[in-house]
Amino acid sequence: MFDEPHTNTLLENSLVCRKLQLNYQRNRKQDCTERLDAAAAKFRYEDCKDEYWNPIEFSLLYGTLLWEQASETQRILLNQLYWVAYYSQIISAEIATIFFNQTSAAGLYGQEDFRLVCDMLDLESSQERAHINAFKTISEQVEAHLFGKRIFTYAMRTPFTQTMIYANTNALKTAWKKLQLHGFGLLSADNTFLACQYFTVRGLRTLNGKLVQHKLSSYYQNHSDKENAPVPSKISYYHFMDESFHFNSSTILSHDILNCIAPPTHFERFIANLGIKGCQKDHYHFSVAINGIFWYDPALYSTIYRILRSRVFGMEPSEAIEMMEACFTQETEGLHRSYQTHREAVESYKVYLEPVGYGWKENKEMAVMGSNSIRQYLTLQQRKFSAARRTLLQSSQD
Ligand SMILES: [Fe+2]
Ligand SMILES: [Fe+2]
Repeated sequence: MFDEPHTNTLLENSLVCRKLQLNYQRNRKQDCTERLDAAAAKFRYEDCKDEYWNPIEFSLLYGTLLWEQASETQRILLNQLYWVAYYSQIISAEIATIFFNQTSAAGLYGQEDFRLVCDMLDLESSQERAHINAFKTISEQVEAHLFGKRIFTYAMRTPFTQTMIYANTNALKTAWKKLQLHGFGLLSADNTFLACQYFTVRGLRTLNGKLVQHKLSSYYQNHSDKENAPVPSKISYYHFMDESFHFNSSTILSHDILNCIAPPTHFERFIANLGIKGCQKDHYHFSVAINGIFWYDPALYSTIYRILRSRVFGMEPSEAIEMMEACFTQETEGLHRSYQTHREAVESYKVYLEPVGYGWKENKEMAVMGSNSIRQYLTLQQRKFSAARRTLLQSSQD
């Protein structure tokens, strides 16, 4: 139309456009926002406090000595606390997602014809806000009721923090992470390739969520009386439905759109690979306490100790310490299950990264994440737990 150098436009790639349109239209049609808002508004812990909310094996410390010795009432609580812990982590991840959806949309909108992508991302961000609201409403009510204080939840926060809420971190690492997040936000808002390739990292994270959330959502799907099923199980289901579209859009953006834009420079490759490697590092650990979230268990000791010492479990300090030692430092069924999920994630991440041509070998092979093992987990826990023992005992005297 104009006498200027030809640049690729998205509309020239009709197949990719069609995929985007379909995904966006279907998501709009099925959008669970209203159902999630209504479910969260209706939630009263009293109404479902005696029920499981997830398939039974998705309970806190399932398959450990604590689980074996727990009464039926305590098992139900461990199942509900899994829900609270799991979705408290998801809140943190989704706060980050909202921000990077926006910076990436800014980066992509600088290209011809990217309105559709940006509209789709706007819808996804607004869905994340409804997800967060539902998770937060339920989790806070549960913790207030059971403990009278926060356990896994936290006050609302910005995206510039450690996304993994129980990570192997310290003040310096946290400050560095914050700087990296600020840096990536600035870069991606003004760089098409990096904006596009944020979705490779988002895709990996969503893939991890999908593996577990598919199972969590099955509780409601298989429930014989859906109308009266526990509200949190409904929320797991609605959330999973929205997220499947988010996963599709991550895949279209990171795989298909990658081929519609200019190839990356050395610098762009480097930054995008650092992002993927950062995701591997974040997902290096696996947790016996919570199958499917890659938390660093030593960071979780004090939280588990508080739960065991609360009136829910009513353990004496020495009893709680002994129980934790048995749960964290010994080989258990729970540990094998968590490790299994970690292996599944490694394998599915590798498949996801296959079409990402610019990926470093260590990223495509998931070398960092894949190097963890049950043996390493136990060696680490044995060392960390004996060091933490005294601090834990002291904390109960305070
Ligand atoms: Fe979500
Ligand atoms: Fe999402």
